[in-house]
Amino acid sequence: MRVLVTGGMGYIGSHTCIQLLNAGHDPIIVDNLSNSKPLVLDRIQKITGRRPGFVLGDVCDKRFLINVLQEHKVESVIHFAGVKSVGESNSLPIKYYENNFIGSLRLIEAMQSANVTSLVFSSSATVYGDPASVPIKESFPIQPTNPYGRSKSMVEQFLQDFQHANSDWSITLLRYFNPIGAHDSGLVGEDPNGEPSNLVPYIAQVAFGKRYSLGIFGNDYDTPDGTGIRDYVHVVDLADGHLAALNKTINTPGTHVFNLGTGRGHSVLEILRAFEEHSKLKIPYSIKPRRQGDIAKCWANVADAHKILQWKATRSLATMIKDTWNWQVMNPNGYDS
Ligand code: NAD
Ligand code: UD1
Repeated sequence: MRVLVTGGMGYIGSHTCIQLLNAGHDPIIVDNLSNSKPLVLDRIQKITGRRPGFVLGDVCDKRFLINVLQEHKVESVIHFAGVKSVGESNSLPIKYYENNFIGSLRLIEAMQSANVTSLVFSSSATVYGDPASVPIKESFPIQPTNPYGRSKSMVEQFLQDFQHANSDWSITLLRYFNPIGAHDSGLVGEDPNGEPSNLVPYIAQVAFGKRYSLGIFGNDYDTPDGTGIRDYVHVVDLADGHLAALNKTINTPGTHVFNLGTGRGHSVLEILRAFEEHSKLKIPYSIKPRRQGDIAKCWANVADAHKILQWKATRSLATMIKDTWNWQVMNPNGYDS
């Protein structure tokens, strides 16, 4: 299948392109390279023996998107392109509503013009805000607490309204929990700009000696060891979830919503210990105040993804840590190494 992958040069998109190529699909990437590097294409080719199509451009440009969709005879779209930092979204809300909401709106308009009616959209567990209980079901209330989360929930709402008015379309909303890890070749992985804001890239840089110490944001949460619990899922499992969504839902009109996670949670200290065990290094840390907007516990109910998509995350926490560490060691400065 010819699949347009917006944001396909980024962390999750690049892993998904690898899985698409391995499965015999033809991904065409559209990316403005605002948070990724051209070298990703060489790495994907090295891993798969095939080079995905790539067109430099912005998802807010409808005319450009129509041309790409028509020229490449695209049959389906996976939409990753967007911006994703919670902290930045508080200070730059326009950037978030523009790239995430306007970008998605323009993409749908372009798809409509080009008569492409199947979409898989990158949403986030952040749309659930602070849930009343765990594990989190897809039917839980949507109550995001920051501009990033609200931009995602607005896209979800818009896509549902749009599908309602266009009943032949198939739209799948995938709510990711916490993607970590890297391709097991060590050639593709997460390459954060500057100081990482997420836990696992931060720990990897401390273990490698690039940063002095990990700050643990609070040890007084209502959890067994007091630190926050999250549902960490291997990025390659997540990539496979997109193929499952593409295969299962392309011929099923409607709006489909799935959590993608493992269904179990790990605390910050458990992640730190797992990293120490694998790297055989002592990782310095100190306890810091809670980070504003953080929640105590967050993990997914993944029953629907198992049942309907027949998708299940198979890679263990040890594999996630091993692959993160391998990527960090092979690429000390990310793609600039
Ligand atoms: P990423 O930043 O690595 O990848 C996003 C890609 O989109 C980058 O290559 C960037 O250059 C590109 N891009 C950004 N704005 C664009 C625009 N206007 N036009 C064209 N290209 C544009 O991020 P990621 O971690 O791979 O996340 C992919 C998607 O998944 C995002 O929509 C993100 O919000 C969502 N998501 C990510 C996580 C996570 O923890 N990584 C969790 C939940 C949801
Ligand atoms: C964060 C975002 C979320 C986004 C997700 C993936 C916030 C409030 N939430 O989720 O919207 O979808 O990233 O991009 O930013 N931690 C530390 N020290 C650190 C970093 C993190 O102790 O230096 C802790 C956090 O308090 C949390 C856990 O590690 O308990 C995971 O944090 P992180 O990787 O940032 O993910 P989330 O907070 O779940």
